[in-house]
Amino acid sequence: MPKTTILIIEYNQIFYKRLAEKYKGEKNLHTINGSAENLNHYMRIHNIPYADAIVSDQPFASLPQEMSDSILASARDVLHEEGKSLRSNIKMENEDDRKVLL
Ligand SMILES: C[S@@+](CC[C@H](N)C(=O)[O-])C[C@H]1O[C@@H](n2cnc3c(N)ncnc32)[C@H](O)[C@@H]1O
Repeated sequence: MPKTTILIIEYNQIFYKRLAEKYKGEKNLHTINGSAENLNHYMRIHNIPYADAIVSDQPFASLPQEMSDSILASARDVLHEEGKSLRSNIKMENEDDRKVLL
């Protein structure tokens, strides 16, 4: 998919640094240290008019309600009407499992 642009948004600075290091040099992939609440802002910066897909793994149950609402509102704003929103629900049993994904 040569025209696809991927934004990775991670709030935690340590996790962000790991992701940025892993994906540095990847074409059309941008790793951002910030909050998914600002999804539309990050998309504007990267000239992305809408999202075809949003994959999230935020712990909505433990986030402040205001933050959860804001993330969901941002996602609704940018997702194309035929776009897909996927919630991953991966449970890491150990550090080796995590390495498979990172
Ligand atoms: C369940 S963990 C993800 C685990 C990851 N899939 C893995 O394999 O290790 C949820 C992640 O959401 C991030 N997060 C929480 N609030 C966020 C927000 N507002 N914007 C972006 N990321 C957020 C956390 O820092 C955390 O890394």
